Amino acid sequence: MKEIDILTKITARGYDELSPEERELTDAAWNATKGAYAPYSNFSVGAAIRLDNGVIVTGANQENAAFSSGTCAERSACFYAGANYPQAKFTAIAIAAVGTDKKRVPNPVAPCGACRQALLEYETLAGHNVPVMLLGENEVYTLPSVKSLMPLAFTEF
Ligand code: THU
Repeated sequence: MKEIDILTKITARGYDELSPEERELTDAAWNATKGAYAPYSNFSVGAAIRLDNGVIVTGANQENAAFSSGTCAERSACFYAGANYPQAKFTAIAIAAVGTDKKRVPNPVAPCGACRQALLEYETLAGHNVPVMLLGENEVYTLPSVKSLMPLAFTEF
């Protein structure tokens, strides 16, 4: 028998510790929460993805009266990026949320399983690790890759 450990290294930083480029991406994610259509949950999520062509694309959760027809912020952002910049590679992702109290969540929020799976595919297409920044009002978690958020993920290629 052997045991296999799964390790994920997360760095926790304050905003003042981010580089100007990181700050730009985190600002875009916070700003993207304003595009949420979330009348059912009142929970607004924003995602920002930096592409290797310099563009930052954003997305926000879009809910629907038929609940399962809605989509999360991360998937709205990554599918927008894929549809509009099919040649571009992802270089970084940031995710933010504003809670039901209309305030930025104090602690970082993490993407749901379906969004992890969707983002993973774009990381695979990029051919390199894509850092993921999870934002809270108090601190920012940075993970080295989407893969590190989803160990033993299903991949077809
Ligand atoms: N949501 C996201 O946008 N991203 C996630 O990774 C998890 C949840 C949205 C879905 C729904 O509109 C709201 O947050 C509350 O679950």
